[in-house]
Parts: sequence; structure tokens; C-alpha cells
Amino acid sequence: MTCTVVVGGFFGDEGKGKIIAYIAKKDNVTIAARGGVGPNAGHTFAFEDKTYKVRMLPSAILNPNTQLMVGAGVLINSQVLKNEIESFNTRGRTFVDYNCAIITQEHIDKDLSNDHLKSKVGTTGTGTGPANADRVMRIASLARDTKELSPYVVDVSEKLNDAIDKNKNVLLEGTQGTYLSLYHGGYPYVTSKDVTASAICSDVGIGPKKVDEVLVVFKSYVTRVGGGPLDGELDKEEAKKRGWLEFGSVTGRERRSAPFNFELARKSIRLNSGTQLAITKLDVLFPDCSGKNNFNSLSREAKEFIGNIESQTNLPVVYIGTGRDLNSIIDRRSN
Ligand code: IMP
Ligand code: MG
Repeated sequence: MTCTVVVGGFFGDEGKGKIIAYIAKKDNVTIAARGGVGPNAGHTFAFEDKTYKVRMLPSAILNPNTQLMVGAGVLINSQVLKNEIESFNTRGRTFVDYNCAIITQEHIDKDLSNDHLKSKVGTTGTGTGPANADRVMRIASLARDTKELSPYVVDVSEKLNDAIDKNKNVLLEGTQGTYLSLYHGGYPYVTSKDVTASAICSDVGIGPKKVDEVLVVFKSYVTRVGGGPLDGELDKEEAKKRGWLEFGSVTGRERRSAPFNFELARKSIRLNSGTQLAITKLDVLFPDCSGKNNFNSLSREAKEFIGNIESQTNLPVVYIGTGRDLNSIIDRRSN
């Protein structure tokens, strides 16, 4: 029974949502708790021809036995949260910490109209930066003061620590990616908080000794939305040709792309103290891997790509994404 933190190793959009949705469904996960900034992150996954996108709930919604929690460090957009609880029918198993701070329309307007945030940093415009600023000024309102959230409010830290003490499986879901961290990313082209594994633990109220595994998720290539440097960036035509041109799930903006970056990967593993890796979208680099579930059936080139990541990082690649659907995954715990 394990407590696993899942974090993005690059600039977000590594495919954490799919990996978390898979683990939650496959393992008997008692609680999945979301850390990170808030509704600026959209986690997407597909199962049986249906696409799911969550901006507030953890990506573990497909296991009806998993309790879904939002940690104290996370900002809540009440409307987005309520819509997700409704559309995914998760009432009764969704809880938010009483200390979560609330995003208001004013925060959103500020995020969208502030030239520095909008044009230079290129934020998602979801109000998270201004809301965290108010939180630091200690003038934000919290979930405990918000009447419409009262059915969901609990002490998330207490629930998680209880579950861990009872030897249950617990998943802590990070959002964004290591290089969007306010402290460890390329300031000012970063988000409004630290988002490394330690921060995710702090967000949900788990101390460092309670964590068994830190799963760092990398995509087979690097993408980034918004401003800031991206080493080895491809021009749009080349990105399109390689099938790497993606669009942001919250903002619809074009993602910039570059080849897998080992230097960034190693540093990110250090910042997060990673113990295992997931590599997503291998099928985009190697189309013949599409939908495969068994490592042995991969092409030689694809195996070499994974082997090279393992030898350069000294960590095992435990999950490999081979397509959009949850079932398009190689789970190396089982094969
Ligand atoms: P903010 O988090 O909306 O303030 O945006 C700050 C920077 O982080 C911008 O470059 C955003 O594009 C980026 N960002 C924030 N959240 C995500 C995410 O979940 N995925 C990818 N980029 C993100
Ligand atoms: Mg995303």
C-alpha cells in the first residue's frame, strides 16, 4: 500500500491526468487529492470513446470507490468545481479542505487585463495569480466561509493521514510542471506557486516522511504554453510535421514544442526526488507503438528511447503511454 505523489517533469501538459486516471482505476486508490495551483490546469483523459477534462477535481473520477479531495493549498473556482461535481456525478465522494482560498471574478478580470500577466507571462487568465496574491496579503476568502461549498468542506490533511495510517493507497496529484514552479522555474515565466513534489505534499497536508513514491511524468517531447525560453524549440511547420503541435486544454492556445530534454529531466528528478517515471505519448514519436500494452512488442527504436531515458536518469520507467485511451498504456509493474 503506497502513498504516491505524481508530478509533471517539464512545463505541464505531460499527461499526468491520464496516468492518474489509470492508476486510480487499476489500483484500489482510497483517496486521490489534488495539489498545485488551481483551475489553471486542465487534466484530460479518454476512456471508452469519451473524453474527460477536469480543472478542479483530481483525475481519479473513473473509480467510483475513490474519494476525491482538493488540498488546502489549492485555489477553488466554485463554479468550475460545482459543474464538475455535477457532470461527473461525484457528489458524496468529493471534498475540499476548509482552508482552500477562493477565486473571484475580480481575480479573473485582473489576470485577463493586467498587461504584465497577460502579455509577458502569458498566464491562463483563470485568476490564479491575483488570487494567490490576495491570499498572501491575507485578504482572500476561504472555503470555510463560502456557503455554497459547505457540503464539501473537510480537513483533507486529516483524512489523508488517516488513510495512510490505515495502509490505504493514496494518490497525490500534482498540477502544472516542475519548470513552472515559482521558485525553481524560469521566473517570471512561471505560475504563482511552487509546484514540485514537496509543494504538492504541503498543499494537501502530508509530511515528507509519509510519501513512498514520487512519480515524475514526462512526455516523449517537451511542450510549453505561454512565454519563456524553450531550448531546442521547433518552428511551427516542423512541429506540425512531427505531430507535436498541441493546443492548451484550458486556453486553447498553441503549445510550443521541442525534443525530449535530458538535462531538464535530470534536474527535475532532483528537484522532486523522483523514484519512478512515466513517459507519455510514445506513439507520437513511434507510431508503430500505438495502443501497445506490452513492452516486448515495442519496436527496437522505441525500446532504445525508453532504455536511454532509464540509463540517463537512473530511474525505472514504470508506465508508458501509447495512445489517448486509458487502456493504451504499458504498465511495467505487470509486464
Ligand atoms: P498562470 O498559472 O495562469 O498564472 O500562468 C503562468 C504560466 O504557467 C503561463 O505560462 C501558463 O501558460 C502556465 N501554466 C499554468 N498552468 C498550466 C498548466 O496546467 N499547463 C501548462 N501550462 C500552465
Ligand atoms: Mg494541461
